[in-house]
Amino acid sequence: MCGIVGYTGHRQAYPVILKGLKRLEYRGYDSSGVALLKDGVLNVYKKKGKVAELEESMIGKNIDAQIGIGHTRWATHGEPSDRNAHPHSSKSGKIAMIHNGIIENYALIKQELVNKGYSFTSDTDTEVLLNFIEDIKNNNECSLEEAIRIALKRVTGAYCILVVEQDNPDTIIAARKGSPLVIGIGKGEHFLASDASPIIEYTKEVVYVNDYELAIVKPDELILKNIGNEKITPFITKLDMELAAIEKGGYDHFMLKEIFEQPSTIFDCLRGRLDSKESTIKMSGVDLNIEHIINANRIMIVACGTSWHAGLVAEYIIEELCRIPVEVEYASEFRYRNPIVNKGDLIIAISQSGETADTLVALEKAKEDGAFIFGVVNAVGSSIARISNAGAYTHAGPEIGVASTKAFTGQLAVLIMVALSIAKHKGTITDARFNELLVEMEQIPEKVDSILKNAEQLKVIAEKYKDASDFLFLGRGYNFPIALEGALKLKEISYIHAEGYPAAEMKHGPIALVDENLPVVFIATKDQYHEKIVSNMQEIKARKGKIISIITEGDKVSAELSNDCFAIPTADEIIAPLLTVIPLQLLSYYVGIAKGIDVDKPRNLAKSVTVE
Ligand code: G6P
Repeated sequence: MCGIVGYTGHRQAYPVILKGLKRLEYRGYDSSGVALLKDGVLNVYKKKGKVAELEESMIGKNIDAQIGIGHTRWATHGEPSDRNAHPHSSKSGKIAMIHNGIIENYALIKQELVNKGYSFTSDTDTEVLLNFIEDIKNNNECSLEEAIRIALKRVTGAYCILVVEQDNPDTIIAARKGSPLVIGIGKGEHFLASDASPIIEYTKEVVYVNDYELAIVKPDELILKNIGNEKITPFITKLDMELAAIEKGGYDHFMLKEIFEQPSTIFDCLRGRLDSKESTIKMSGVDLNIEHIINANRIMIVACGTSWHAGLVAEYIIEELCRIPVEVEYASEFRYRNPIVNKGDLIIAISQSGETADTLVALEKAKEDGAFIFGVVNAVGSSIARISNAGAYTHAGPEIGVASTKAFTGQLAVLIMVALSIAKHKGTITDARFNELLVEMEQIPEKVDSILKNAEQLKVIAEKYKDASDFLFLGRGYNFPIALEGALKLKEISYIHAEGYPAAEMKHGPIALVDENLPVVFIATKDQYHEKIVSNMQEIKARKGKIISIITEGDKVSAELSNDCFAIPTADEIIAPLLTVIPLQLLSYYVGIAKGIDVDKPRNLAKSVTVE
């Protein structure tokens, strides 16, 4: 949610910032802007729309500067417009600031400032915070750093801010609470960003700034302090990420690249952990905390969006294999509804970005109540990874496309391994079944690869149904959450209304929608529910709905009932979701493309939702 970049050093700042903003555009693309500081002159440029529009508007402008900050916005307070774009300038024009997050008590602060005669040019909470800082600085005759510290003590909400001022020609002041900030350390230069993608090209040495920390960043110096003005030694981490991982690598879109990366990302996720020959799963996060985990009275899974769907699949698998009760909650509900969390409860947090505000705050709350937090996270070093007591990374690599694909299958792979590992430790699975599933898991990358080889078939299906106004996705058992995920994917990147339902529940309402215009996607693979789902297909066919089905190779019955079908290799029903989701990702992708939608940046969405 909003991407921020800063640079101070010996290079031209604008190209570094612009490239960084393009890499962070997945965080929001309602507007963007830069503030460049040179010889005591602060130039602020901003533009509604994507970063490319800012870039175009900058032609012919004075961009000469070795220090600057830039922002790409996902609107919270105030519509997307030039006026509400960041950076914002203070009343005097001497300070500029960018902000990712939400200042919850901004209205109160704004009123105080209005009473003092301030007026505002934007509708944003950011402009309020900036003028509040300048007001404190003027009244107390203190430094900008001190003013920021005083202001932030009054603020409730979440923020990562970068601030530059005219009179401080080489310094960026940054502060964070709740929204991410990474600082890259170069030779005589520093890079600041919401994640490491704008930095990786220049340096691999980074410092992840923690909540309630302030950074004073100059070309040759990085000072880290807590909000109480005490110095902290920066903890330098080496980035384990290559530039190629964040580039399109010949694909038209990041989403397609990420879909096609899944054979290797799933393989990477299993590598070094799952070994069918040895009949072992080694996951240090599980193994080192096994007592905690197997003695949990219950497991609560907390997540949002696609990650929540991975949690639903995990609920079915963990209850089946481990016989531990599992509840799955939307993080946003969990955190506000006063849930009962007991000491000894195990919370599994699932998050691609590791920065989703609702998930993060839900975890903080559960941790206070004595729960043990196990994080299933993709972004290494992210806030959720750091707040967790233990965890397992999904190792899917950076996911840039806004619609989650490879991170989802990474989450499923990790969660299946966690379930198998718990079941083995707990003795709720036989050795034979354990081994059978390990062998099946090892075959998954190859099977995903074989599905991808037939991607063109889905392109044809997508062309045929792209003009439908609604879609229904139906599945049962382990594939019910995949129906939800299929519907979410389609909504996100094609703007077609879609609903996911348990196939049997369809007759309690959605069946009223069925007519000859409604495409109904069935996940009808061969499993314990197969006969039942075939009956559900008959019910749709009787009402002239158009059936698109994902079936197991060789299933003639389902094929005959369907208007269109896509066959996938056989797999044990427990791990089949790792396969069934792939054609649904491709179907959405091709529908989105056929409709001319920018699938990597669909309207209104952002990849990392750091506001509540
Ligand atoms: C946003 C993204 C989704 C994602 C959800 C949760 O809505 O667009 O793709 O599933 O946030 O994000 P997380 O990073 O916590 O998995």
